[in-house]
Amino acid sequence: MLKKIKSFLLKKNKKKLVCLTAYSKNIAKIIDKYCDLVLVGDSMANVLYGMKNTHEITLNNIIQHSISVKKGIYKSLLVVDMPKNTYVNIKQAKKNAKLVVKKTKCDAVKIESNSKNYAIIKALVKIKIPVMGHIGYTPQFKKKFKVEGRNIIEAKRLIKEAILIEKAGAFSIILECITPKVAKEITKILKIPTIGIGSSLNCDGQILVTDDILGLSGFYPKFVKRYANLNTIIEKAAKKYSKEIKTEVFPSKKNFLYGK
Ligand code: KIV
Repeated sequence: MLKKIKSFLLKKNKKKLVCLTAYSKNIAKIIDKYCDLVLVGDSMANVLYGMKNTHEITLNNIIQHSISVKKGIYKSLLVVDMPKNTYVNIKQAKKNAKLVVKKTKCDAVKIESNSKNYAIIKALVKIKIPVMGHIGYTPQFKKKFKVEGRNIIEAKRLIKEAILIEKAGAFSIILECITPKVAKEITKILKIPTIGIGSSLNCDGQILVTDDILGLSGFYPKFVKRYANLNTIIEKAAKKYSKEIKTEVFPSKKNFLYGK
């Protein structure tokens, strides 16, 4: 567990860190060799389960998907998101994070910041559970999407938060939708790697939701780049399958298991 984290940390200022999300073994298996870190994100709430936000996803949902993802991971660091309301106090956070690590065999957990989770991060690190922080737009705590760091008060608050998260012992931190200037400042100040999402090139690495880059989710804000359009590919395949069943092209003799 710690070996993978050490090699992740060593890449700061040397190589850009490549991070993506996964919710299943099949996707994890494909992306693993190109990633430094794979996150089982609570974004599965919206992306996979069609929920209106990330708040309804349960610890059990996350654990089940992480068990599946783990089966496809060989080299990447596996990080599991702690869902909302599963780390409201130290006792609960320790109990739930221990359960996540035990059941999923992940390398670390991620918790979103609400500007006061530092004691929780510290407590988890103390019991040897590595933690990834997450600041900026944190959907578990913020109702409205907004780019953060556009004024001096926000910029100072974000920098302070990042420093406190590092001090609490987090091994890395996600900067979500933070201005390029503030992302640059945080990345310069912190010794731990910063991973950006919608926060410009001024981070040590980048993360995006895999379903978004594959064109599966239908969610394409400006910070997402679509690298494939699986929607169209799947639709074409389903259309052909449907036509071949109706015209009795499928199953053909070569698909018969026995006889004619
Ligand atoms: O839940 C998630 O997928 C995330 C990433 C978007 C960073 O937190």
